[in-house]
Amino acid sequence: MKIFKASSEGIEQAAAEIRDGHLIAFATETVYGLGADALNDRAVASIYEAKGRPSFNPLIIHVPSLARAKEYVEFNEVALRLAAKFWPGALTLVLPRAANCPVSRLASAGLDTLAIRVPGHKLALQFLTACDRPLAAPSANPSGGISPTTAQHVIDGLEGKIAGVLDGGPCPVGVESTVVGFAGDKPVLLRPGGVTREVLEAAVGPLLSHDADGTTPSPGMLQSHYAPNAAVRLNATDKRDGEAYLGFGRDHDAIADINLSEAGDLTEAASLLFSALHLLDEKKFKRIAVGPIPEIGLGIAINDRLRRAAAPKENKETISEWT
Ligand code: TXA
Ligand code: MG
Repeated sequence: MKIFKASSEGIEQAAAEIRDGHLIAFATETVYGLGADALNDRAVASIYEAKGRPSFNPLIIHVPSLARAKEYVEFNEVALRLAAKFWPGALTLVLPRAANCPVSRLASAGLDTLAIRVPGHKLALQFLTACDRPLAAPSANPSGGISPTTAQHVIDGLEGKIAGVLDGGPCPVGVESTVVGFAGDKPVLLRPGGVTREVLEAAVGPLLSHDADGTTPSPGMLQSHYAPNAAVRLNATDKRDGEAYLGFGRDHDAIADINLSEAGDLTEAASLLFSALHLLDEKKFKRIAVGPIPEIGLGIAINDRLRRAAAPKENKETISEWT
């Protein structure tokens, strides 16, 4: 992979890779992020591919300013206070997607919320400004690995899988950002991280805790994954009465209402999965039949999501945790 230096030339070259849809790891104050153009479904799909993730989880969207963030999510009053006090910095806010938000549905794993932050690292801010688009970025390590805090860690984990790394030296914070969501307008600590609970509470008062058992008041905002309203039937080779058919490849293309990839390309299929499910829900289909998808590469993550979507409603919460 290419190593881009923290110079205006290095930043511009790395940003050009992002605009071409490629993956660039970049330094932030917390850990190195694996960045992709958040507006480009295929680029986002390739993040999951490079990390070898067995399932899709929602990613953090990185922007260079609060003004930019307001284009993509709706702030409540507490969120605005948190952003004013802690951005740029190691705090991620989970907020409703703005109307017509152009960020990839895959980046938020189909949810109606987006996790967003302005990183507190000069090079990251320069890079985001040069890219001129929001970046989806999980930590730049293979799935299950340790989060990287130097460019060498990124190279060790992802050599051959990504276009390059923008080298900003060691990350000063070294742990991931704190993630705060909202139950109504009450802030909820979803993941501890670089900004401590004490410091956050000094600014906005008590934070609710997020219990895995779901006892925290949990309206849609704290949903941990998206499932369509329609019932889902897997490995379907026919289309029954009242069903929409979600196809893959050419085998059953004739009956497909939507084909995730006629060419049988799993990256393309991943990139369209959540927008396709949303579209079929919007069309008020009660049942979705999904054609067979091979259990290899990104197919593993696609099938994982579809199996969760197909599970009986009462089981959805318990099997939905990705942590
Ligand atoms: O410091 C960090 O946060 C690093 C750097 C690169 O910014 N990024 C990072 O991303 O740690 P990632 O993808 O490894 O972690 C994202 C976290 C996960 O805990 C995920 O569950 C949560 O954010 N998250 C993302 N979107 C969410 C959403 N819509 N609702 C609830 N949680 C969300
Ligand atoms: Mg991580």
